[in-house]
Amino acid sequence: MSLTEILGWCVALSAAAALMNFLLKQVSREYVKNLSAANPQFASSYRTFMQFMIRNHRFFGMAAGALFAVHVGAVLSSGVSSFTGIAAGILLLIVSGLGAYGFYIRKNPRGKWIHAHRGVAFLLTMAAIAHIFFKAAIYLPA
Ligand code: HEM
Ligand code: HEM
Repeated sequence: MSLTEILGWCVALSAAAALMNFLLKQVSREYVKNLSAANPQFASSYRTFMQFMIRNHRFFGMAAGALFAVHVGAVLSSGVSSFTGIAAGILLLIVSGLGAYGFYIRKNPRGKWIHAHRGVAFLLTMAAIAHIFFKAAIYLPA
């Protein structure tokens, strides 16, 4: 596996960890709530893990942004670019920007920004999957 690919997987993993915010809450609402009576230990461990992932959500998002810059550096220095990568990259910057705006400027987890943040996170997931399977490489002039 090339360094570029390893860095790409690091971006994807950090973004997936950020996305867990949504998935863990959904699973908690749909399934774990009904489980708490039957298996309180599991429900309590689940909740502890979920709280950890929610508390660190912005750091996973920021790590994805920082690793993304390194991935792009490695990509460009090897003389290629990628249409699907550019699409995923733009969406990642928008999601992180919206998240930072909501957290540090609005300081309120409600409002229009959170709907946009969630919607663009969904588009980013689609774009990242497309990018992993289809690079649509652009060969840069030397
Ligand atoms: C959210 C942003 C991104 C994510 C999650 C991401 C993820 C990945 C992953 C997981 C791979 C390895 C795929 C494999 O094993 O086949 C990869 C490879 C690659 N990415 Fe990205 N990427 C992103 C942004 C970009 C951008 C902005 C560019 C271009 C400007 C780009 C260009 C490439 C190229 C050319 C490869 C192939 C590298 C090689 O074959 O050595 N990526 N990316
Ligand atoms: C890869 C990057 C990111 C992805 C995929 C992502 C995804 C999400 C999703 C899907 C939600 C909704 C959770 C729900 O439905 O309850 C959310 C909530 C939120 N995000 Fe992000 N996010 C990212 C980066 C960031 C960053 C960088 C920040 C802040 C600097 C941030 C701040 C927030 C806040 C404050 C909330 C609402 C409160 C909470 O649930 O913690 N996000 N994010």
